[in-house]
Amino acid sequence: MKNKNLVLITLLVLTMLTGSLLAGCGKGADSNSIKIGLLNEMTGGNATFGTSAANGAKMAFKEINAKGGVLGKQILAVIADNKSEPSESANAMTKLATQDNVVAVTGVFASSNAIAASSVAEATKTPFLAVGATNPKVTVDEKTKKVKDYTFRVCFIDPFQGTVGANFVLNTLKLKKAAIMVDNSSDYSKGLAAFFKESFTKGGGSILSEEAYLQKDQDFKAVLTKLKSLNPEVIYVPGYYEEVGKIVKQAREMGIVAPIIGGDGWDSPKLVELGSAPALNNTFFTNHYSVDDNSPASKAFVEAYKKEYGQNPDALAVLGYDAAKLLIDAIQRANSLDKGKIQAALASTKAYPAITGATTLNASHDAVKSAVIIEMKDGKQIYKATVKP
Ligand code: PHE
Repeated sequence: MKNKNLVLITLLVLTMLTGSLLAGCGKGADSNSIKIGLLNEMTGGNATFGTSAANGAKMAFKEINAKGGVLGKQILAVIADNKSEPSESANAMTKLATQDNVVAVTGVFASSNAIAASSVAEATKTPFLAVGATNPKVTVDEKTKKVKDYTFRVCFIDPFQGTVGANFVLNTLKLKKAAIMVDNSSDYSKGLAAFFKESFTKGGGSILSEEAYLQKDQDFKAVLTKLKSLNPEVIYVPGYYEEVGKIVKQAREMGIVAPIIGGDGWDSPKLVELGSAPALNNTFFTNHYSVDDNSPASKAFVEAYKKEYGQNPDALAVLGYDAAKLLIDAIQRANSLDKGKIQAALASTKAYPAITGATTLNASHDAVKSAVIIEMKDGKQIYKATVKP
């Protein structure tokens, strides 16, 4: 009898224990920590971007934890790698939302990956703050045209970025005849090419030709031979650094001297490695941030980042940091770990003082903020101008 009671009590305690543990996990936390998902391109073709974004976020959490955390709890980052692939992005988001039970997710720079991750964020009602994904379809459903409830981003969008690029070519370089090379495997590249074209032709420019390539292509000589014969004054290549580096190098080898223009997808130390410093002279790209930004907050961030990682932050490191801090600010304002309340707090973000500029999330859950124009000179990024929205 005595033994039987003991067994029963033990069972009861065990059940209670597991129950409370599960309940704790369900809210994305045990009593002392809050779990946040960091979903990034840690491996694969765009690993420098994802690693930067994750590094920025980790530094933000470290700073916040050192000051006591949020809502009295320490932040626990759960890292998930999307391997630079859309299908893996959806898988990683599923794992974070349903197994790790995080309260929110930040990360992802590539639009195609963010679009895939956002479907799962919506289905699982998990607040998702994308870091660098600039295509409009990230936050607005392509079919229904409805703003996705749980998906946000901390960066500007490509209709703006494309216009900034087009105006720079028309008004600063004063060139009117362009050719475009678009990466047909990327939503980002296709979108940015279209937005550039729209603004460029509206402003009086003409597009001589639009050529396509695919991610992982190595040899661009056939396309470049065709472009060379058309003699464009400028070539717009809204792609990612892997292919862009090779395109620029091969173009120069073939004697194409025209300026080559791109977007934020160029911003990687690998660009110079692949493209070579001399070939990259006379190229320019639009971006989110420049280390030459002289604001005190930016200077302090660059110093802190260099101390932590031994290198200058690129745009994704800064955006990753900004996104992580903004997300924690939203959790603080929500004063709750309820995912619906965090969603509402994100949606009402106004003038959050981010390093990349005061950030308000608008009705379509996008950040409206300035772009910078960078010139590549002897392998270095030279800050040219800031363009306000
Ligand atoms: N904007 C790019 C995309 O949507 C990603 C990117 C962001 C690349 C920031 C570099 C810097 O795919």
